[in-house]
Amino acid sequence: MKIFEKEGHKILWGDAIDVLTREISNRSIHLIFADPPYNIGKNFIDLPDKWDSEKSYLEWCYNWLESCIKKLKSNGSMYVMTATQHMPYFDIFLRDKVTILSRIVWHYDSSGVQAKKYFGSLYEPILHCVKDKNNYTFNSEDILVEAKTGAIRKLIDYRKPIPAVYNSKKVPGNVWKIPRVRYRMDEYENHPTQKPIALLERIIKASSNEGDIVLDPFSGTFTTSFVAKQLKRKSIGIEIQEEYVKIGLRRLQIMSEYNGQPLQKERRTFEHPIDKRQISLNLIEE
Ligand SMILES: C[S@@+](CC[C@H](N)C(=O)[O-])C[C@H]1O[C@@H](n2cnc3c(N)ncnc32)[C@H](O)[C@@H]1O
Repeated sequence: MKIFEKEGHKILWGDAIDVLTREISNRSIHLIFADPPYNIGKNFIDLPDKWDSEKSYLEWCYNWLESCIKKLKSNGSMYVMTATQHMPYFDIFLRDKVTILSRIVWHYDSSGVQAKKYFGSLYEPILHCVKDKNNYTFNSEDILVEAKTGAIRKLIDYRKPIPAVYNSKKVPGNVWKIPRVRYRMDEYENHPTQKPIALLERIIKASSNEGDIVLDPFSGTFTTSFVAKQLKRKSIGIEIQEEYVKIGLRRLQIMSEYNGQPLQKERRTFEHPIDKRQISLNLIEE
């Protein structure tokens, strides 16, 4: 295990369960966002996202879920993700131990290959849990969205003598339409399951306050820590893959170099400078 730290932001390079057990004090965390491997065959560099059976995947998950609950403060909140097919098991496991306040659907539009023989999956589930249903943070005023009826109209109160817009803002419901991170977006990092900044903004604003500690046991590109920093929270991010730890060190500006090499964002194909010589050669040939 290796620890990197700067100005209230910690990156722990190691195994989630091991780090949670050894490095994080019980009842010390205000908010946890856990986005584990989904057991669906993604590739986290050389770490295959596939367990021998669903049973062994779930056993592993129950282990870190249990540990996360221990680390939460008594007024703490936890958001948990997994694949749609595993979420019912998470739900049943967690409902005895915490209060599940919302079963959120993160809905996005599909791109790429479309299902033709079944209804394609256009959402990922998120459980919003709290340790104490009578004492938890929920900053509804900080996450208001525009209130719409039908397609585009605002909510109108027709009972008034002169109909008036009575509510143009509302607390979001449990279906969140937020685009996935795509290759050409500024926030894109080289990772197969990066979560959008907008998703973490809503979660962190709602369920923590400035100065609170936000923990992500499966940090990937460190979106959680990155947003926590922007919102003046403290962060702890755990990740097992060195390449992803390097993304975190850069995104959180903890280090500018790693093993003597500058930490730079990988240039995407469309960001390479156009080879002007090649273009003029092509023009001559035409
Ligand atoms: C679904 S991704 C998280 C993506 C992240 N939310 C983001 O926005 O980039 C899961 C991450 O967990 C990491 N991981 C897998 N097994 C782990 C373990 N045992 N301990 C810590 N991290 C692990 C993977 O390398 C991967 O980056």
